[in-house]
Amino acid sequence: MTLQFFDFPAARDDLRADVLAGLAAQPKAIPPKYFYDEAGCRLFAAICAQPEYVLCRTERALMEQHLPEIAAAIGAVDCVIEPGAGDCLKVRALLGALHPDQLVVLDIAGAPLAAAAELLANDYPGVAVTALGMDFIHNLEAAAPYLTADRRLVYYPGSSIGNFAPADAAALLARFRQLAGEAGQLLIGFDLKKDPAQLHQAYNDGAGVTAAFNLNLLARLNRELDANFDLSQFRHYAFYNLIAGRIEMHLVSLVEQTVSVAGQRFHFNLGEALHTENSYKFRSDEFSAIAASAGWKLIRGWEREGFAVQLYG
Ligand code: AVI
Repeated sequence: MTLQFFDFPAARDDLRADVLAGLAAQPKAIPPKYFYDEAGCRLFAAICAQPEYVLCRTERALMEQHLPEIAAAIGAVDCVIEPGAGDCLKVRALLGALHPDQLVVLDIAGAPLAAAAELLANDYPGVAVTALGMDFIHNLEAAAPYLTADRRLVYYPGSSIGNFAPADAAALLARFRQLAGEAGQLLIGFDLKKDPAQLHQAYNDGAGVTAAFNLNLLARLNRELDANFDLSQFRHYAFYNLIAGRIEMHLVSLVEQTVSVAGQRFHFNLGEALHTENSYKFRSDEFSAIAASAGWKLIRGWEREGFAVQLYG
């Protein structure tokens, strides 16, 4: 097995600055990447198992159903790159079908990534696995020196692209373009626009796991930034904004209160919202237009039950 792990803690140390700036802003907002501490990663895995949140299961089923066609459309690939790889489970099917020489996985959560990459390297001894613990949103270019192979495929599943506003999504896709190179390809999965009631349920599951995931952000700030959020005084609030085409997640203050974070005090009015996530939903053609603006040309697409996977070159 070949495994290399490089951690870049300095490249993901923006938590304090981002949170203080986000709480001082109007409206208050914290970037969704900070959901994913260890507890957040566990809660996200639990969300994916909820009956209402079918996104992950549908994508897996789509990939299983169409894998031979997808692999044939991609053709020969030397290097697969997965930004935000997390538990590295999704890429396994592709490795089995494409047999690349190298896999480069990147994630802001360095320790869980290292553990997942080790399992991967054991199971795919023919693939040289490089794991980079970094905030790829800011430091994607730092991955370039670790790419040894030429024909590159960027794999970005799970509708993670939906967590960016369209202009930011286009900017990220353009940086994927740079990393993949002229001959590179992009395989990307995203959630399609559908019945708002279905979307509402997916982000308001009956077991309250999404609520716990959202509130864990405040628990994380208590743990890591010496904050004193009382979680019982905030409520998970998620809804589909039809005009913007996105789920919005907020934490709503149930009382007027002042909270201290890293030595600074922040006032919340009764009913004031802290915006924690957008999750954009697309039509296929809408998404292709965003990708085209980033220099990607659609090769082929597959759809299943409200989810799409598209291949670009
Ligand atoms: C990771 N991301 C695509 C998920 C989503 O659906 O936007 C995160 C999530 N938030 C609430 N539930 C799941």
